Amino acid sequence: MLDHRYAQIRARTLALAEPLSEADCQAQSMPDASPVKWHLAHTTWFFETFVLERHEPGFRPHDPAFRVLFNSYYNGIGEQHPRPQRGLITRPGLAEVKAYRAAVDARMAARLAATPGDRGLTALVELGLQHEQQHQELILTDLLHLLSVHPGSPVYQPADAGPDAAPGVPGWLPFDGGLVEVGHTGDGFAFDNEGPRHRQFLRPYALGRRLVTQGEWAQFVADGGYREPRWWLSSGWDFVRTQRLEAPLYWRPDGTVFTLHGCVARDPDRPVLHLSLYEADAYARWWSAQHPRQPPARLPTEFEWEHAAAGPQLQQRFDPAWQWTASAYAPYPGFRAWDGAVGEYNAKFMVNQYVLRGGSRATPAGHSRVSYRNFFPAEARWQFSGLRLAHDVD
Ligand SMILES: [Fe+2]
Repeated sequence: MLDHRYAQIRARTLALAEPLSEADCQAQSMPDASPVKWHLAHTTWFFETFVLERHEPGFRPHDPAFRVLFNSYYNGIGEQHPRPQRGLITRPGLAEVKAYRAAVDARMAARLAATPGDRGLTALVELGLQHEQQHQELILTDLLHLLSVHPGSPVYQPADAGPDAAPGVPGWLPFDGGLVEVGHTGDGFAFDNEGPRHRQFLRPYALGRRLVTQGEWAQFVADGGYREPRWWLSSGWDFVRTQRLEAPLYWRPDGTVFTLHGCVARDPDRPVLHLSLYEADAYARWWSAQHPRQPPARLPTEFEWEHAAAGPQLQQRFDPAWQWTASAYAPYPGFRAWDGAVGEYNAKFMVNQYVLRGGSRATPAGHSRVSYRNFFPAEARWQFSGLRLAHDVD
């Protein structure tokens, strides 16, 4: 069962790289984004370091140099190659990285066959698979940024010929709030940052039935939203001015938007993507000024989102965009990080970041859940990040 799941998820990662050249897999377009080749190696390093090194008798590393090259941020493991310079790791080449994957996969298959009921092993393998799925999404977000800076607007994948999901229905969904329970529950996998389950008090609130659309965002742009300081938080206004922002990332002046399918016409009924928290927050303030008879709009808190998403009414929960919340990424009451070096997975990033909820079109199927907490700094725009408005109900 787990061996089958392992093989499937690992194969999916390789399939994502299949349409790409070695040069595509090598390049790094900005410090926050990693090369595809690095993702392929790092996810393998994770299994080698956290599973094989502990559970394989007579363990020997595939290549001792990989321990530093493909360590992302685990100080408990040791030194790391600097993230902004991952694109400069020209050796090993792509073929050697694929051979590294195959070698670790064979050793992992042997381990799973030798000790199928080992709970410690099983838990680490599951964590490695969840980690691999997170990197599958990062491969796509990082690749999209890389291709976006190419003047030829390359196509990664032809557009899907199948029917797209129906656009959402506008309007508001009211919730009573009260003392509610949030956080992961049940026996399935969850990251440490999703617990413990605990109570939060919510005032009555309403959430937008659907995400803010490209058509609505175009009105914000046309109304000078990016040039009017009163809509923006102070650091957001600095960000807009220093970066000379005029529209969401990947919007082009000719009315198209750059996607993994190349440049496509903007669709006014589809959600706007690739927003920073600053843009999402500014839009809410602008929207409120346009609708003076309605309660002021704001970003939802992560607890409002989770409470609403646990019920059946909320549209566009896990697709097509991660949804910014007003909640700072912080530990829940009673939080305990995982023991050992894997405790660095989430806990040490609980500062200067905001929580996004939901999932995106780049998230592997079945990977997200209502208690899932994604997190990024307020200025991050290269993820598939969108916006759902909220307001207080008096
Ligand atoms: Fe990672």
